[in-house]
Amino acid sequence: MTKRKVVVFSGSGLSAESGIPTFRGNGLWDEYPVHKVASHTGWHEDREYVLKFYERQMGKYSNCSPNAAHKAIASLQEKFDVYNITQNIDTLLEDAGCENVRHLHGSMKYRKCEWHNDIKNEYDMDNNFNCDYKVESSEPVKFGDTCPKCCGQMRPDIVWFEEAVDDDYENLMKLCGELSIYDGVFICVGTSLEVYPAASMVRHFSHIDKRYIIDPSPKSNEFNYKLLVGKAGDKLPELAEELLSD
Ligand code: OAD
Repeated sequence: MTKRKVVVFSGSGLSAESGIPTFRGNGLWDEYPVHKVASHTGWHEDREYVLKFYERQMGKYSNCSPNAAHKAIASLQEKFDVYNITQNIDTLLEDAGCENVRHLHGSMKYRKCEWHNDIKNEYDMDNNFNCDYKVESSEPVKFGDTCPKCCGQMRPDIVWFEEAVDDDYENLMKLCGELSIYDGVFICVGTSLEVYPAASMVRHFSHIDKRYIIDPSPKSNEFNYKLLVGKAGDKLPELAEELLSD
């Protein structure tokens, strides 16, 4: 028998209880100018500054482990086909045992050439992004680490502002259809829904009966989700228990 599907769409609030700060509202972007450290323009203005920022971030991430929410999502795999779509660049879902994780904003686990062909930037009129070098690495990228194929500067495999998210719309629509036909579940956890495509995800899945938003301070509930107001580490284990006994 085919398993029912659960799609979990997550943001930085999912990893907050693991010690990784969120971005907005007393978060990382209050401490650092976002357009300097996380934009395509910022990278080309001062690559060394950007790399130092991510080196510090990576140092913080290396001491973090999955929290109760990551583990609860992994536990759902006993009974459901679980698809994680995350905006997070940490690997805590994978560390908790989640098998199917799609990183919309890339992952700290990889480094790539600054001219990699998966970088989609609207200002690239000359189509300079044509290298294919990307490798797994647990070491932070240093200024001067160059691509063995084209000598470009290496960078973290993260999608920055002004770069397009590879959102695989076709597969997303297929998942939406399957969830609605086969009594699936959609869980949105720990995101302010402020950047694309987060807000559109909540709209796409708004016709699913079992749809939840988990957040200690949800911003809005335009699509009438079941709101579970509280921390992911409390609410996700409760929801997982309920779904597993359903
Ligand atoms: P935000 O900082 O915008 O939102 C974090 C959300 O998590 C807020 O709604 C908080 O209320 C909620 N939250 C805080 N603690 C929580 C907890 N313990 N459990 C559950 N929720 C909690 O972060 P994101 O929505 O993830 O992109 O931001 C989206 C993207 O914007 C990020 O991926 C990043 C940023 O710019 C890039 O860096 C490219």
